Parts: sequence; structure tokens; C-alpha cells
Amino acid sequence: MSATYLMPTYNRQPISFTRGSGSWLYTQDDTAYLDALTGIAVCGLGHCHPKVTEAIQQQAATLVHTSNLFGIDWQERAGEALCTAAQMDSVFFANSGAEANEAALKMTRLYAYNQGFKRPKVIVMEQSFHGRTLLSLSATANPKAREGFFTLDDDFIRVPFGDIEAIKQAAKDFDDICAIFVEPIQGEGGLNTADNGFVYLEQLQAECDAHNWLFMIDEVQTGNGRTGKYFAYQHSKARPDVLTTAKGLGNGFPVGACMVSGRAKNLFGAGSHGSTYGGTPLASRVVHSVYDVLTNSDIMESSVREGQFIRKTMTDELQQYGISSRGAGTMIGIVLPETMDCSQLVDLARDEQKLIINVTGGHVIRLLPPLNISRNESEQVVERLLNLLKPLL
Ligand SMILES: Cc1ncc(COP(=O)(O)O)c(C=O)c1O
Repeated sequence: MSATYLMPTYNRQPISFTRGSGSWLYTQDDTAYLDALTGIAVCGLGHCHPKVTEAIQQQAATLVHTSNLFGIDWQERAGEALCTAAQMDSVFFANSGAEANEAALKMTRLYAYNQGFKRPKVIVMEQSFHGRTLLSLSATANPKAREGFFTLDDDFIRVPFGDIEAIKQAAKDFDDICAIFVEPIQGEGGLNTADNGFVYLEQLQAECDAHNWLFMIDEVQTGNGRTGKYFAYQHSKARPDVLTTAKGLGNGFPVGACMVSGRAKNLFGAGSHGSTYGGTPLASRVVHSVYDVLTNSDIMESSVREGQFIRKTMTDELQQYGISSRGAGTMIGIVLPETMDCSQLVDLARDEQKLIINVTGGHVIRLLPPLNISRNESEQVVERLLNLLKPLL
């Protein structure tokens, strides 16, 4: 494997996979790895799900791209499906999570501009991650991702995640706030959940309603069944004005979506925003196939069962060492002691246990297995993790 011509933007692991099927990845010599990361929360239906593969193959042989200068039947169908699942009014299709968020953040500008604001501000959270385009990076908290890029910090007010009093204080301190942008569970930031869980979203919405701000939820990672509901906000009574998603939306096919309702319903008109590729017949058919599988199966229910099984078994075995778990559905954080050296965990899991995991927030093992992981595979995830961790405790 040579990376000579690739910019060194990633510290890649010394392995590459040539084939994937369900919960498994295979190297050239056919060694099988149990994938508890799914391409960072992307292949929620597992690798190469037959229905998604069929959709890609059929559409690739029929029509791939025409541009948004023309009607796109599959885009209409995918839009209806997604808006139905999300309980939103309409959608703009983009090609990634950052692009979906860029559309959402652009909307805050227009929303404020229409009200005559000079320097509108968006409230975002500490430990947030919203992507790496300039505006989504500015909304992101991660100092490593931001360093050197002259982020547009005047446009954002950052408050602690889960702290509703900090929002109320910001409302007193600034008179040019126009939106709140939040992840229901912070994925990249360490699988953080608010102390009062999804009720936090209802509190945020109440603040937005009180001040006429846009309530915007980033479900790039938590969407498409990852937390056990189609969208994580549906665990609450909250209703966003803007909802973004990507990752599981295409099960590995690059696509993102920015949906609107309520106060954001009629913000964008012809010419406000665009994308040459957004919502091609191919991407849209893939989105529709994922929706079909998610809504015509019990995958979300079984994902909750398997997620609970993994969390419970891990904490039953390890709570004596101060290890706990957090998350929802198949978005699972195994929280290790802060004093533990976690720098080798990913490599040891891969090389010694043939298990693909990720560590985030310094000391949280992040598990994002396929939603349709079987009980036998869940047991193997647990067994391999215990084999990994027990000698280190
Ligand atoms: C919550 C959230 N928002 C946005 C993004 C950016 O998505 P993408 O990498 O597709 O641009 C990510 C990626 O990890 C994410 O987790």
C-alpha cells in the first residue's frame, strides 16, 4: 500500500481492507475483522447490504447524473421518504455532513439578514463537531481541527453542552443571536449525552421559541437509526427548524441532507443554494433504498436490543474497575478511567483481537457497530473487548 501521492491529512492505520460483508471486513489474504466502527457510523446496514448494492447496480446501469437543472424522479422520492421519516417539510440534498451543515449555517445568515441583523451569532456547544468546511469548522470546538485556519469565531457563541443556564445567560448578554446548533449526542467529542438526556433538546427548543431563534440539530452521526429512532431528536418532544444528516443516509455512498420546517420552512428559494452533484439519481436511489430497509424491517428495534446487550455486559463485567457506558442504540461509549493510557487500544484491538474500534475524547472506546449486528456478533464484540481490556486493568 503506497500513499505517496496522497496528502498526509490522515494518520492511517497500517491495514487496508479489500472486501466487506455485514459486520465483517476482510483483508487481501481473507483475514476477517469484526467491524464495530462501520466507517465511522456510516455503514449502519452493514457492509454491502444486498438491497443497497442492488440499488447502486441498477441505477448505475440506468442513469447516474443529470444535474439539478432537471427534474430528478428519485430525488423527489428520496425527499418524500426522508422528510416523512424525519417529520420535516422539505430537504436539500448535499454530498457530505459538512456540506449539509454548511447549508444549515448559511440559512442562519439569511434568517438574520431578513430581520436586519448586522452580525448574527449562532450558539454552539463545547466539544462539538460539525465538519471541516470553513463555516462548519468554525462551529466545531475541536482545537486540533481548528488550529491554523482563522476560524470565523465572531459568528459563534460557545457554551457547555447540556447547560441550559448558559443559554439563558447568552440570551441576556447578546442581542444578535439567531440560532442554536446542537448534536443530540456528541459523537466526535466523546459520546457525550446531556445529564437530562434528550429532554435537553426540548429545553433548547423552548429557548429558541422564546427568542425566535432557529433551532438546528446536527444528526449527521446520530441519524438514520443510529440511536434506535430514525432521528435521535425523536426520543424527545422537540421539533427542529433545521435538521441535517449524512453518514448512515447512504450506507457508504456519499450523500448529505439539510431539512427544514417551522421557522426555516421558506428561507431558501431559487438561487439561494446549490450543488452540481447534490441528489443525483444514483445518490437519491441509494437514500431511498436505505429508507426502505430501515422502515420495512425491525432493524432499529433489534439495534436497541443489541446496543443494550453490549453496554450491559460490558458494564456488568467492568464496573468494578470504574468503567461505565453511555450513548443510545448502537452509538456506544465505553468510558475508561481517565488515568488509563488508551493510546494503544485501537492497534491492540485490531492486531490481537481482530476487532475494529475507535477511541474518542481521550478515554472513551467508541463502538458504532452495524444496526443489524446479530446477537452472536454482539457477543463476539464483548468477548474481544474483554480480552483486550482485562489484562490492562
Ligand atoms: C455530528 C457531525 N457533524 C458533521 C460531521 C461531518 O461530516 P462529514 O465528514 O461527512 O463532512 C461529522 C463527522 O464526523 C459529525 O459527526
